[in-house]
Amino acid sequence: MVRRTWRLGVAGLGTVGAGLLDFLAGNPDFAPAGDRAEIAGVSARSRSRPRPVDISHLRWFDDPVAMATSDDVDVLVELIGGSDGTAKAAVEAALRAKKPVVTANKALIAEHGRELAAIAEASEVPLLFEAAVMGGTPAVKMLREAMVGDEVSAVAGILNGTCNFILSEMDATGRPFAEVLAEAQRRGYAEADPTMDVGGFDAGHKATILAALAFGCAPCFEAAEIEGVQAVDQLDIRLARELGYRIKLVAAALREADGISVRVYPALARLDHPLAQTSGALNALFIQGKRIGRIFIQGPGAGAGPTAAAVAADISDVMTGQHRPVFQKPAGELKPFTRIDASRHASRAYIRLLVRDQPGVIAAVSETLAECGVSIDSFLQKPVEDAGGVPIVLTTHLAPESVLRDAMDRMARLDAVVAEPRMLRIAPI
Ligand code: HSE
Repeated sequence: MVRRTWRLGVAGLGTVGAGLLDFLAGNPDFAPAGDRAEIAGVSARSRSRPRPVDISHLRWFDDPVAMATSDDVDVLVELIGGSDGTAKAAVEAALRAKKPVVTANKALIAEHGRELAAIAEASEVPLLFEAAVMGGTPAVKMLREAMVGDEVSAVAGILNGTCNFILSEMDATGRPFAEVLAEAQRRGYAEADPTMDVGGFDAGHKATILAALAFGCAPCFEAAEIEGVQAVDQLDIRLARELGYRIKLVAAALREADGISVRVYPALARLDHPLAQTSGALNALFIQGKRIGRIFIQGPGAGAGPTAAAVAADISDVMTGQHRPVFQKPAGELKPFTRIDASRHASRAYIRLLVRDQPGVIAAVSETLAECGVSIDSFLQKPVEDAGGVPIVLTTHLAPESVLRDAMDRMARLDAVVAEPRMLRIAPI
């Protein structure tokens, strides 16, 4: 067998780029076919910035687009990040020049996946992005390859390690949000702009990509409904635990009767539920298939080593000649999913009220819920020091979200309620 050397152009030398260089230096012949991979060039914002790997012997490109189209580069590995700008320009240029692209860029794929898939398929080259979702845990391959014999009805889980680390630490130590976020940044989990993480956008990008792969549609990030973890309060973490739950940032994509919904929101998972037991920077995902049933995977969703391993797996697929449509169907046949009216979803909810300690308050709350047609599942009144009122927490049975919102508005207007009521959903899986 003739062995080939694949010349990689690596654009972006942050955590993942440095991890990939480190891996390739020790394992140039890692791919099963026996071909070799070598770095033909690198490009990043700064050449001189201190890095954990030596790049002095590598060819440097100031312009990643020039590197993507260089005759000396066979494959572009894009690790710059960001939905537009240089990353998009370099990926487009490589695909138009008929060069395979491997990327870890979830924002790019979630926001421009369909147009990039069309260019890749017209050029007959692969566009691969295993590392874009769940870092080193192979969620993309599972949906793209292993589930083609089934019909997926739902994917849901924990897709952002930074938020999971923050919520786990707040739960375990009682430390405040800002302090724990700073630690997540120091550990290298967080994006350059942590709003992407804590605002839920990073998980939204990932859930959008999983929806496209699971349901054979074009990724449509604008249709995702996103809520982050900034408003999760220590008080709710403590009270949820009293009721037997842990708060997690859940990302879910569901095939529903009238379309597809992609949603990210903080939700309660029972303490013995696999999502509640996914702690620290770990990610986890349930895949629900019609024939296979329910699959659960859990693993590292960030970090240099795991994410670089996912990038290397894609490079290996390029070297071994794996070739599939980017999103299950040819790009020209992909339809974007449209946003489903969220108020029609039914959820179980956790509701927390702060009330004055006076007679008749519990009766007023339960009457309001009864008038709205919301049925209570569990109820707890728990005096907590410095809470600014007496917390009442309850969980409900399934109710349409529009009804739950109406009940929240009415409870907010009760005389004895002293602060804006807080509602969180109970995880749907
Ligand atoms: N910031 C991301 C996370 C890293 O926290 O999960 C990997 O996408």
